[in-house]
Amino acid sequence: MRGMPPVRLLTVAAADPEPVIIDEAAAVLRAGGLVAFPTETVYGLGANALDADAVARIYRAKGRPAGNPLIAHVADAAMARDVVAAWPAIAETLAQACWPGPLTLVLPRHPELPLALTAGLPAVGVRVPAHPVALALIRAAGVPIAAPSANPYMGVSPTRAWHVAEGLANSPEPVLVLDGGPAEVGLESTVLDLTRAIPTVLRLGGLPLARLRELLGEVATLAGEPGDQPLPSPGLARRHYAPRVPLRVLPSAEALAAEATRLMAAGQRVAAILLTPGAGALHQTVLGTDPTAYGAALYATLHALDGQDLDLLLVEAPPADEAWATIHDRLKRAQASEI
Ligand code: TXA
Ligand code: MG
Repeated sequence: MRGMPPVRLLTVAAADPEPVIIDEAAAVLRAGGLVAFPTETVYGLGANALDADAVARIYRAKGRPAGNPLIAHVADAAMARDVVAAWPAIAETLAQACWPGPLTLVLPRHPELPLALTAGLPAVGVRVPAHPVALALIRAAGVPIAAPSANPYMGVSPTRAWHVAEGLANSPEPVLVLDGGPAEVGLESTVLDLTRAIPTVLRLGGLPLARLRELLGEVATLAGEPGDQPLPSPGLARRHYAPRVPLRVLPSAEALAAEATRLMAAGQRVAAILLTPGAGALHQTVLGTDPTAYGAALYATLHALDGQDLDLLLVEAPPADEAWATIHDRLKRAQASEI
């Protein structure tokens, strides 16, 4: 007899999810199973955050080391308060201004949460996703949903349901995937640690730093400086968010064209990710000069190019200004050659 297929896909209406689909997925979660679902940032691989066995299934499905804490996804600030041991005024301010949205708050954990959820850390990451399917699923399940990005460990986060289905095709755990179309932001949430004296960004993400500064004044950032210190947040692993095909960032379109010409003359299969169309026979994907649109398309582009049997992906460096900070961060991690 054949085993259960690891991945089952169900299409769901993104703006107005069908209750029958949501109820089925919620039942899987309540029974301890895994449901991948769309959020506004990327697809998440969800399990009941209060069930230690269910949380363990997430780690197995992703091949993720047990030392990486998971984000608890909740439907509103009231539900967030149930998973934390403290809710400072600053958390309330941020929740009111930024939720639902791409901001994860790291706060002291509620003592009754499974240890596996926070990988043994004293703090928990919590956020309210801005996606009708995610919100409906959390409400129907009636519990917080633990969910990392629904990619195999170290891979590029999924922004489409097929990215999830492909990435988890060999998962040792069955996964129900809700296909709610493209994830709009296309980059993971900004992770902000509120347990430090100064609020500290652990991972740059979909919520711009400028917005946090507007709300908080001073904001520290650890992101973007991966070193050899123990990682305060595993999203800071030097190589992370990486496609299988090697990737290199070139400082300008001219430098990229010269390098591509040289490599192609040597018989290499090369493709380029550019800000504006370039000349020549090079296989080009143009992502434009608007950081929001670029960010929304980047991971889908990496997933698509990964399937094309290339030797190398060359990326034209985006502008240096802060609006591109998250994109620079992800490109840097995607090209790092060591872990
Ligand atoms: O946009 C997102 O955040 C997506 C969607 C599905 O919500 N989720 C996501 O989860 O990217 P994941 O597990 O791939 O990344 C979570 C990041 C990691 O860098 C993790 O280390 C950090 O959040 N994080 C989670 N809990 C933490 C904690 N208690 N302390 C420090 N960092 C934490
Ligand atoms: Mg991830």
